[in-house]
Amino acid sequence: MKTQRGGVITGWGIAVPDKILTNDDLSKTLDTNDAWITERTGIKERRIGGTTSGLGIEAGRAALAKAGRRPDEIDAVILATTTPDQIVPGTAATIQDGLGITGGAFDVNAACTGFVYALTVAHGLLAIGAERLLVIGCDTLSNITDWNERSVSILVGDGAGAVVIEAVDGPGQLLSWNIGADGSLRHLLKCDHGGFLYMDGKEIFRKAVRVVVDSASQAVAEAGLTMDQVDLLVPHQANLRIIDAACQRLGLPMEKAVVVIDRYGNTSSASIPLALVDALDTGRLTPGMNVLMTGFGGGMTWASTVLHWGG
Ligand code: UT7
Repeated sequence: MKTQRGGVITGWGIAVPDKILTNDDLSKTLDTNDAWITERTGIKERRIGGTTSGLGIEAGRAALAKAGRRPDEIDAVILATTTPDQIVPGTAATIQDGLGITGGAFDVNAACTGFVYALTVAHGLLAIGAERLLVIGCDTLSNITDWNERSVSILVGDGAGAVVIEAVDGPGQLLSWNIGADGSLRHLLKCDHGGFLYMDGKEIFRKAVRVVVDSASQAVAEAGLTMDQVDLLVPHQANLRIIDAACQRLGLPMEKAVVVIDRYGNTSSASIPLALVDALDTGRLTPGMNVLMTGFGGGMTWASTVLHWGG
């Protein structure tokens, strides 16, 4: 990958609702239990509540503060979401206004893959002259979930994660990117206007492992690395068993994977940035490390990127 102008992430932050919904809470109204959910998914609890714009603003404000940047220094807000506040306008516009940002604003919808897609788009904008961008992954899946039905409701949570990316001369931190989709599989995960989220969990599980392994392998090869040179894996948090199966097939020890699904459930576009920020805040991700982010989701879409942290 050749680029004269790259990007470096200089700030990050998250926002999650205060309300915690545990597996035991769910088992009071649904035919399920903590043991099943924990064993089959790795989820113990999730956060529920808020709006996509509200959580996005909070996470974005935290990322700006960490980067030491004012809102008027940001050239565009790129929001990855599959649960916009409204059909029109894009929720990035509400976030732009809420933060007092003067640059552009647009949404990216690639379901759970959205944040990696948005990060890739951001690096494209930096390459053609943007100086600073705010990239947010935020979803409030609870708003499109049928809470009387167990197949989806045990999985989902709400949240947001945001990063500020700044242009640098030279390649920056992005070593490679890989994005893909197979629209013939769009029936596996969908939500019609005014409806509830539907997913064919078993089929997604099978396909997810394959596409994530293919995409991650291609991104690592494109970065000029071998798998053992990957220091940290930040995967989409859909199911702990999917992360485990992907690690095994990639030849990555599970200890290299960042896991936050136990606390947050599947937060779609927010899941990768929530895990990324957790790794940063706990000191697991430090300058000089190679970090692989990889995800899959509705569409079906998939995407991976390798960053050399710190540029
Ligand atoms: O963000 C990307 C989108 N989504 C995903 O990545 C989801 C991917 N898929 C999955 O994570 C898993 O397929 C699920 C967690 C959705 C389901 O796990 P599974 O291991 O595929 O379970 P299953 O559907 O095969 O069900 C196994 C058993 C069944 O009982 P029998 O037929 O063996 O007696 C189900 O009736 O577990 C039962 N079951 C439950 N029991 C308690 C299914 N759901 C539940 C539940 N609580 N919530």
